Amino acid sequence: MRKNTTKPKKMAKIIDGKAISSEIREEIAEKVREYNAKTGKLPGLAVVIVGENPASQVYVRNKKKACEQIGFNSWVYEMPEETTQEELNALIDKLNDDSAVHGILVQLPLPKHLDEEQVILRIKPEKDVDAFHPANVGRITIGNPKFLPCTPAGIMELLHRSNIEISGKECVVIGRSNIVGKPMALLLLAENGTVTVCHSKTHDLKEVCKRADILVVAIGKADFVTADMVKEGAVVIDVGMNRNAEGKLTGDVDFKSVSEVASYITPVPGGVGPMTITMLLQNTLRAAEE
Ligand code: GUN
Repeated sequence: MRKNTTKPKKMAKIIDGKAISSEIREEIAEKVREYNAKTGKLPGLAVVIVGENPASQVYVRNKKKACEQIGFNSWVYEMPEETTQEELNALIDKLNDDSAVHGILVQLPLPKHLDEEQVILRIKPEKDVDAFHPANVGRITIGNPKFLPCTPAGIMELLHRSNIEISGKECVVIGRSNIVGKPMALLLLAENGTVTVCHSKTHDLKEVCKRADILVVAIGKADFVTADMVKEGAVVIDVGMNRNAEGKLTGDVDFKSVSEVASYITPVPGGVGPMTITMLLQNTLRAAEE
């Protein structure tokens, strides 16, 4: 009989964001019990949603559920699409002054007639659990953060808890949003990664990606990163949350082909997604403790 000489394919290890997220939520729950025993209070998160964006409604529902499960107080303010800037500002002012509210999150995007920057600036930096206020962004930039931005912080936890070394590594981030790409680059830099941020004007994107030991993809295009863009043994983190034609959630990375090249990969769903809300809970606890 002829021997089969084809080598079995070495597949990437899957970073299980659901499991890591549960582990961290247990640690947070323990700290909530300690906080409650000391103060008689519970951490409290207020979430504001304006209009009826279906994706935002799902995110807000999940945030409320996570708060309830971990034993936080939570309040959801659902405001109609036609809410004025003055009405929204007045609600933020009320929440800023409410001592039971430790964290305030205004779900983005807002309807077009509302000014997101004004909203971000209005939230007190010490209640800004998204870490979107320029005071918090500035603190991250100088390496002295109060809150870490939720999605990038979740990715750092995934890397740490999978024992992936960052110091000295080539880190490539695709996407430069204020929510993910830019703060991600700062957090990797703070841990001594050599960081490149790619965007729509980047020349030779494939060649830049191929240099990466750690590749973080936050571009919002289904299956954008393919195996030919990834170095053998790279760690690939997929931040994408795209719906395909059948309505199924898919990432920015072609999971099947890239898993045959990478050493570690995050799936979608079940990778970065579950970590974002966990980091929001962590920030809210931190806000309460302060
Ligand atoms: N919309 C999408 N992601 C986020 C987030 O992390 N925070 C807020 N406030 N809105 C979002």
